[in-house]
Amino acid sequence: MLRSLQHAALTVPDLEVGRAFYEGMGLETAQLGDSLVFRCPGRAQNQVRLVEGKKKRLAHVSFGTTAAELPGVVRALEAGGTKLIDSPYKAGGDGIWFRDPDGDLVNVVAAPDQPQSRPPVALNNAGDFKRLGRRGAPNRDIEATPRRLGHVLKFSLDLQRAIDFYTGKLGMKLSDRIGNLAAFLRFGGDSDHHTLALAQSQGTGLHHMSFEMGNLDQIQFCAQRMIDKGYRDGWGVGRHIYGSNYFHYIRDPWNSLVEFFWDIDFIPGNAHWEVENAEAGPESLYQWATMPPPEDFLANFERA
Ligand SMILES: [Fe+2]
Repeated sequence: MLRSLQHAALTVPDLEVGRAFYEGMGLETAQLGDSLVFRCPGRAQNQVRLVEGKKKRLAHVSFGTTAAELPGVVRALEAGGTKLIDSPYKAGGDGIWFRDPDGDLVNVVAAPDQPQSRPPVALNNAGDFKRLGRRGAPNRDIEATPRRLGHVLKFSLDLQRAIDFYTGKLGMKLSDRIGNLAAFLRFGGDSDHHTLALAQSQGTGLHHMSFEMGNLDQIQFCAQRMIDKGYRDGWGVGRHIYGSNYFHYIRDPWNSLVEFFWDIDFIPGNAHWEVENAEAGPESLYQWATMPPPEDFLANFERA
C-alpha cells in the first residue's frame, strides 16, 4: 500500500517563472535532468518537479511505499487491469508508472518519508507549556518556509471511480466526503486526514498542493510574503472542517493554488474513524474564514 506522498510534478511553459514562485515560498531548487525540483529546507525530499511543456498541466503525482510492499502494489494493479507503463523521464524515473482512472500519471517508488530536521515551533497551551521563560510573538522577518508537502488535491471526472481505485488497488482509506463535490483520502497506515484529495470536474488537473507550516504565524507570514511579491490571494486565512487544518491559499503563476496549512487531523492506522458525507455547498469547505470562498475557488483552470 501507499505510505507517503513524495512529490507532485507540473508541466509549465517557463521553468524560471516556477522557480521564482517556489523560491519565493522558501523552497530550495535543484536541477534534475531537464527539469527543476524543489525541496523544503531541512528535508531531503523533492516535493515539486517542474517539466517544460507547452501549457501548464498536472504531469504526475509520486507516492512512496516500502521495497517489501512494491511487488504487492504491482500485483494489485495488474489484477485490476491497470497496465504499467515506461517512465516518461530520462532522469528521475524510478519506481513504477501507470495511469489512474482519470488518465493522470502516477508514480510509486520504494522510498521512505524523509524527516524534517528543523525543530517544531515551541507553543504554549494551558496544561502543556513548551515555551518557557521567553517571548513568543515572532518578528515579522522570521523564517516562514514550508516544512513538507502534505497533500495534493486534483480534479477527477468521476469521484466514486477514483475513490474505488485508490482504496481498492493502492490501500488508501476514505476519510470524509463532500457529496459529489470532493473526497478526502489518506494512507492505510498512520496518516494525515488526507494526503490525496479529489474534486469533481469536467476535466482533470491540479487544484492545489498543500505545504505544512510550523504554526499559524508562519501560514500568514508566508502568504503575506507571496502577496507582497505580487501573487494573487487565493482564500484565507481560515480553518477547514474536513482535516480541521488552518489554511491560506495563494494562486500560483498558472492559476492553480498552493495552500499553507497547519494543525491537520492525524489518524493512526488502527484508529476507528467514522466517515462523514457532507452536503455539497460553500459551507462544507470551512469552519470559519475571514471571508467566504471566492467564486473561482473550485474552478478548474487546466480545463481546455
Ligand atoms: Fe488542502
